[in-house]
Amino acid sequence: MYTHAGAGWSIRAFTRNDRIACLRIFRDCLRAFPWRGDWQGYLPVLQNAFANARVLVAEEPSAGVIGFLTLNMTTGYVDHLFVHADWRLCGVGRGLLDVAQSEAGKSLTLDVDAQNIGARKAYEHMGWQVVADARPLRPGQQVRLISP
Ligand SMILES: CC(C)(COP(=O)(O)OP(=O)(O)OC[C@H]1O[C@@H](n2cnc3c(N)ncnc32)[C@H](O)[C@@H]1OP(=O)(O)O)[C@@H](O)C(=O)NCCC(=O)NCCS
Repeated sequence: MYTHAGAGWSIRAFTRNDRIACLRIFRDCLRAFPWRGDWQGYLPVLQNAFANARVLVAEEPSAGVIGFLTLNMTTGYVDHLFVHADWRLCGVGRGLLDVAQSEAGKSLTLDVDAQNIGARKAYEHMGWQVVADARPLRPGQQVRLISP
């Protein structure tokens, strides 16, 4: 589907065997978001996405699954995008979004937590624009973004 020539990771479709690795990444990411509370409360939505959405994984030969994305192909909405902390700033997030956008054939949208400063900076670097928010942003709010 896509292979990063220099870094060695590639992007492919999710299979059932990727479930545990994706869940670990999801758990570790959510634990770093104290404003989100118990990460397990978000599991049903993720499980539903595994069953019904287009799911892409990024994989590195020795590390295994290093990130994943879930996409509603009809709407172009990205429900989940998570990259393992050891593999951030290596282009994995951009790669997953690029493949997703190419598959969806349209601009993508997503909601990012107002407090998630790292992700908001990443989307800003990638040229995403705010399409809706409620100012002033308060904890617990989200910002709707659209891809270039
Ligand atoms: C947000 C996230 C998916 C980005 O993934 P990533 O693989 O680190 O992103 P990339 O390496 O592809 O970076 C894409 C661009 O964003 C920039 N960027 C990424 N993280 C950044 C940060 N914390 N601060 C500033 N810029 C950042 C990169 O420099 C790059 O810009 P460039 O191409 O101009 O150099 C990742 O940090 C993550 O999984 N975070 C935890 C979970 C999360 O917040 N998910 C999003 C929920 S909406």
